[in-house]
Amino acid sequence: MTMTTGERKIGGGSPLYEQVAGEVTGLIEQGTFRAGDRVPSIRQLSKRFNVSINTVMQAYTLLEDQRLIEARPQSGYYVRSRVPEIRDPDLRSRSFITPTTVTISELCQQVMLNMTNHDLLPLGSAIPHAKNLPVDKLNRIMACEVRRLGELSVSYQLARGYERLRVQIARRNLVAGISSGPDDILITSGCVEAVLLALRAVCRAGDTIAVESPFYFNFLQMIADLGLKALEIPSTPREGISIEALRYAIEQSKVSACLIISNFGNPLGSLMPDERKRELVELLASHEIPLIEDDIYGDLTFGSERPTTAKSFDRLGLVIYCSSFSKTIAPGYRVGWALGGRYQGEMERLKMIMNIAAASPSQLALAEFLANGGYEHHLRSIRKIHSRNISQLAEAVARHFPAGTRMTHPTGGFILWVEMPVGIDSIKLYHRALEQGISIVPGPLFSLSNKYGNYVRLSAAQWDERIEQGVATLGKLAHELLPE
Ligand SMILES: Cc1ncc(COP(=O)(O)O)c(C=O)c1O
Repeated sequence: MTMTTGERKIGGGSPLYEQVAGEVTGLIEQGTFRAGDRVPSIRQLSKRFNVSINTVMQAYTLLEDQRLIEARPQSGYYVRSRVPEIRDPDLRSRSFITPTTVTISELCQQVMLNMTNHDLLPLGSAIPHAKNLPVDKLNRIMACEVRRLGELSVSYQLARGYERLRVQIARRNLVAGISSGPDDILITSGCVEAVLLALRAVCRAGDTIAVESPFYFNFLQMIADLGLKALEIPSTPREGISIEALRYAIEQSKVSACLIISNFGNPLGSLMPDERKRELVELLASHEIPLIEDDIYGDLTFGSERPTTAKSFDRLGLVIYCSSFSKTIAPGYRVGWALGGRYQGEMERLKMIMNIAAASPSQLALAEFLANGGYEHHLRSIRKIHSRNISQLAEAVARHFPAGTRMTHPTGGFILWVEMPVGIDSIKLYHRALEQGISIVPGPLFSLSNKYGNYVRLSAAQWDERIEQGVATLGKLAHELLPE
């Protein structure tokens, strides 16, 4: 939204910057600017109110202190969501240091199947909405590339994957702070396979893996399936995994690897600050423990600058970086990649044993899309959509869910983690929502130790009237589940 540009004077008793701040607050309260909207630039406001740039900067600092707006690097100031923020876990508690053996849950499988069931309202699925993906362009590129490259499109891309794609990925890695060559990259069938190969390369059955808590349920199931134990380390939406808690855990028991989602994690949406990423890499390096970093959401920042990665601080080749195009371009293409560091050779060997190579046509199409398809432009467009959707979803949850509900305020991705009042059973909510044709992901799936019983993960991949109505229905069901 933009303001009219007519010059406007302000006057009165209080300091000028407070008056400017008051005017902007008024516009937010009237709904002229809503959560997620960009407020006018400093220059625009200074012209409009005929005050100095300095005065506007002071006004915006005040509004930031009041948590009404937030700065996004190189992008401007945005209205903050005013819905109640989720509480951090008690980092002093040491109850997390007992590793848990996972029991495979049928619920996880059911939840995964719900995600692609088009009869259900997709309020749970962390899958981008196809409408927001460059489908027509990809189809054209795919047709062109398979015609142009002929036999290459039906051949295996050994050993590491299609070279032109690896070159493109190496170039993009620079934006994530990673210097790499095409031969450092192994193309995989999605990010999940990259993480699986990494776990297999660094662990043996019975080993313990430190993970964030709450944590993406599919990885918890994978850990179980490999006969590994998960050590759940408390994490916060602002900082990601607690380094203090991890340090304590490493001192108490043998940890064979650490697995994190470093940017806009699933489900917390946490963004680890650079300094914490560096500390994490150094802590693990000092114990020679490999770090597996999943950065699948990193390109989906709401700001204009992509966050950096733990891999960018890796000096010893101990960080295995994993990502894919599933959240940004085409989940069905099944193309991901890994930078295996010192485990690269072993991961290549395992990949070849497991499934030889990733599918060729999608690699050819993605290489061309990255080279000439306008990926940056596409990213700018979906970042805006997700930022707006997240704000709308958060506002709707705040409106319809029982009093006391809290949620995360992610600055990227499209997932919201919602804490309902204690006593609301999210698995019951999941079943009742399914009866109404709505899919959500209940909190207990994100832990192996009976946690998050009153939490749900919601997705803002898409927003329309039906989804809004679905949130209202969910809120009603949650009210019905409130304990007497
Ligand atoms: C953190 C994370 N990693 C990996 C995946 C799946 O990746 P891919 O489809 O590329 O295998 C997901 C999907 O939800 C995810 O949330």
